[in-house]
Amino acid sequence: MDDFHHKHGRLHCEDVPLDRLAEAVGTPAYVYSVRTVVEHVKRLREAFAELDPLLCYALKANGNLALLDVVRRAGAGFDVVSGGELARVLSVGAKPSTVVFAGVGKTVAEMEQALEAGILAFNVESEEEVEVLAAVAARVKRRAGVAIRVNPDVDPKTHTYISTGKKESKFGVDLERGEALARRVLALPSLELRGIQCHIGSQITTVEPYVQALEKTVALARKLRADAPALKYVDMGGGFGIWYRDAAAPEIAAYAKAMVPVLRDSGFRLILEPGRVIVGNAGVLLTRVLYRKTSGDKRFVITDAAMSDLIRPSLYGSYHRIWPVAGDPPPPLGTEPDLPLHDIVGPVCESGDFLAKDRPFPPDVKAGDLLAVMSAGAYGFVMSSQYNARPRAPEVLVSGAKFAVARRRETYADLVRGEDARPAFARLRVAKAASGAKAKPAAKAKAAAKTKAKPARKASAKPAAGGRARARGART
Ligand SMILES: Cc1ncc(COP(=O)(O)O)c(C=O)c1O
Repeated sequence: MDDFHHKHGRLHCEDVPLDRLAEAVGTPAYVYSVRTVVEHVKRLREAFAELDPLLCYALKANGNLALLDVVRRAGAGFDVVSGGELARVLSVGAKPSTVVFAGVGKTVAEMEQALEAGILAFNVESEEEVEVLAAVAARVKRRAGVAIRVNPDVDPKTHTYISTGKKESKFGVDLERGEALARRVLALPSLELRGIQCHIGSQITTVEPYVQALEKTVALARKLRADAPALKYVDMGGGFGIWYRDAAAPEIAAYAKAMVPVLRDSGFRLILEPGRVIVGNAGVLLTRVLYRKTSGDKRFVITDAAMSDLIRPSLYGSYHRIWPVAGDPPPPLGTEPDLPLHDIVGPVCESGDFLAKDRPFPPDVKAGDLLAVMSAGAYGFVMSSQYNARPRAPEVLVSGAKFAVARRRETYADLVRGEDARPAFARLRVAKAASGAKAKPAAKAKAAAKTKAKPARKASAKPAAGGRARARGART
């Protein structure tokens, strides 16, 4: 569902007319409906209610602080993939016991940070990671909750870039390795095996791959249970599809109907890590037409939003519905009455900069008209960049008839923050011992874990400490 509707001759988000909002905040701008986000969390919770699910919203889809606060108040925890994401959720008051930490490349500093916070589980993805985590946890004298991420070798039938459940994916370990890894975790006193996790991909629009993956994951969890008293969770990741082109994605209730029977009576509690399904249809990107032009037979609409604002079409060839805010709603897909085809493109200096290609589009749209790029709430702003020195767009929340700017438009000063046009050059002071034999990467990581590292970062916007080399003569 979503809360974007054409009424009184223009598109509204909830009760806010988007043409008026664009006048107030400028374009391009991301706009999110609070009501849609809350409703999606509620639907997930209700659909899986029998399993008392712990919903861990995957903020990689959209990490806006105000939106995180809405999700937290709606009763969800979080799935984070970096120290920065952990800092974000802690800053809005997330309970650490509702946070899981995923990702193939967690650093020692991130492990320390998450251990200090006391998160529910690290979703570990390799043998080497387990050894490093065990060493870090022992050193800081905290027991680390662990879930093993397995690869159930299921084809989710989605875009290859967002397919993660096949054996050859860089994520997780295969089921046989998963069991061995779980047994290794059980043997390490600084670790506690709390779950078996998998995530087979994103934008999955069929139910069967979930059922297959769940069956395999639960089978492994059952096998381990007798030896693992703290093993309470089966975590099925995220990936529920949404509609971009049409209503092709099943309702959440349909996934639940097929998945619940597999877990019912198992005694395991379900964790889900949904991202896109909560925020995807809750957001639009507003953009104004700058120019129109024709080149050969091609018709172009040039907008003030670019691939730097929304990279999904360029990156994955993904489809977003685009339509003028003023006037009637778009005709149902596939029934556009002989509209001429247009490429809708941005101002960035790349041929790959487009929002849509060969799209049936009204020929009377003109410079200054406002367009809405639909279903842009997930993997939109978070993947945006300052490429071509373009300040990033604002993010606006709408609730009922009110709006709030949750992130202001960037300025030119923001573009150069942290840069120095005339940095002071300095020689590295190289410690003698460091020039010795080359260590293997895993050995290096273990050595780093043993070293008394700097205290973990607090929940702040400060990045993790980088290299330890000290620069001489740094400018003050
Ligand atoms: C481990 C994990 N969990 C959850 C998600 C969220 O997926 P989605 O936004 O498709 O629900 C992802 C996305 O890539 C992921 O990698």
